[in-house]
Amino acid sequence: MHLNLAYLTAEALLAGQPQRWAHSQRVLQQAQRLAPMLGSDGDLVIVSAILHDIGYAEPAVDTGQHMIDGARYLARLGTDAAICSLVAYHSSSAWEAEELGLADALADFRPPPPPLLDAITFCDLTSAPDGSLVEAGPRLDEVLQRYGPDHVVHRAVSAARPTLLAMAERIERRLTHFPDQPMNGSASARNP
Ligand SMILES: [Fe+2]
Repeated sequence: MHLNLAYLTAEALLAGQPQRWAHSQRVLQQAQRLAPMLGSDGDLVIVSAILHDIGYAEPAVDTGQHMIDGARYLARLGTDAAICSLVAYHSSSAWEAEELGLADALADFRPPPPPLLDAITFCDLTSAPDGSLVEAGPRLDEVLQRYGPDHVVHRAVSAARPTLLAMAERIERRLTHFPDQPMNGSASARNP
């Protein structure tokens, strides 16, 4: 799926959720910032970024786990498996799926390459719910506050927090050293 179609699809699906749309647009901008470092995978992460939260849109809601629901919706549209995978696994998805007994549903999608999962998760964690920029730590703290201790998201994010922060830190570090250390082999072709 090309970015124009992905953008229009997400915009239409999230039309009733202006905050979510503002957040998604910021996630897209963060992905565009990372793209040169991602080499040939940059476009994949950019397209996945604008689509990553469409599972919150009413036509997509299925299991109630928005990462899986977004990926399922995209799969029904015939979207590339690589995009579906990034949407399915972004941020705390694996932990939420485990909490909800949806690990098998998540496993319908192939786990994405770790550097790309780091990238989309970094973009999500550095974009606040209102679309402003934020650091990953405070962003996760806000999620934990928003969902009470008994909520599945709270439990999942608590468990995932160290891993998610490490993912974001890996990207920060690579950004600091880019273009000396592109993120994958294919990157070197475009960023010699
Ligand atoms: Fe998000």
